[in-house]
Amino acid sequence: MTVLTALPTGTDLRAEILALKAERKAVILAHYYQRPELQDIADFVGDSLELSRKAAATDAEVIAFCGVKFMAETAKILSPEKIVVLPDINAGCSLEDSCPPATFKAFRQANPDHIAITYINCSTEVKALSDIIVTSSSAETILGQLPRDQKIIFGPDRHLGGWLNRKFGRDMLLWPGVCIVHEAFSETELIKLMARNPGAPVAAHPECPPAIIDHADYVGSTSGILNYAKGSSADTLIIATEPHIIHQMTLAMPGKSFIGAPGADGNCNCNICPYMALNTMEKLYLSLRDLAPRVEIQEGLRLAAKRSLDRMLEMASATVGMGDLGGR
Ligand code: 13P
Ligand code: SF4
Repeated sequence: MTVLTALPTGTDLRAEILALKAERKAVILAHYYQRPELQDIADFVGDSLELSRKAAATDAEVIAFCGVKFMAETAKILSPEKIVVLPDINAGCSLEDSCPPATFKAFRQANPDHIAITYINCSTEVKALSDIIVTSSSAETILGQLPRDQKIIFGPDRHLGGWLNRKFGRDMLLWPGVCIVHEAFSETELIKLMARNPGAPVAAHPECPPAIIDHADYVGSTSGILNYAKGSSADTLIIATEPHIIHQMTLAMPGKSFIGAPGADGNCNCNICPYMALNTMEKLYLSLRDLAPRVEIQEGLRLAAKRSLDRMLEMASATVGMGDLGGR
């Protein structure tokens, strides 16, 4: 068994990781919620849909996934011949935790005339029990292709599902899960922040509760928020999603100011995703050195989960629908 030893102090982790990456013929993928140094060393930084597409298309032999477990599992489902490593295997997700496969299966059985549209933030088992997976950047395009009278179960994020219901006049049955990070924003503190920054547009992720979304000038995925900021004429924007995305915004738009939306005490770190934060440069180095922890999925389960992911990739590329969730 490989023992993960601490590195000698003074190790140039960035240089060591780049050398190992070349040796292993690896690609490093990172989500926008990762620590800045992980975003900076990644070959590609993106939202959940973009990362899935990259994982499906790469010709690298190893995928080092700087994100959370459901993302690394998605990479393995789509690229089973690759070695997929996740720097910290405990990097989970509150939405995934809210949706145990057995309970989800019972919910489906209780509603046999509904199809299940499921947010990608769920386990491989729940993907295998679903008809179509969506991400925040593909949900609108995919929903737009389904007949209006189609009965739908949407899980596990009740805020994303509720937003889609309100925007498109649907009445999808919602699973009661939430993201603990987006749930922690405070409407009272947001209103105070908006008053201190008159004219600063608010960009929010659809995982936010309705009280936050109601103040947003733009609602969309992480990539959608980044693109909205690029196109905005404002020099200060308020960002209601996990604050590590501000690193990418500052790199792309050094002349603009980005203020993270506040939590309940107005100045807390409660909007940092504790799961995403588990990955570090040292753990990335060790995962490339030892090719562990690896993501492994039993083949029958993988094939069952791949069906709903393939549907997403096909439908997300269709020209029907109206694109990202933004443009409210
Ligand atoms: P997107 O990057 O797809 O918007 O997802 C956000 C998220 O919460 C990932 O866990
Ligand atoms: Fe899950 Fe929320 Fe963290 Fe995204 S930000 S990984 S939805 S807990």
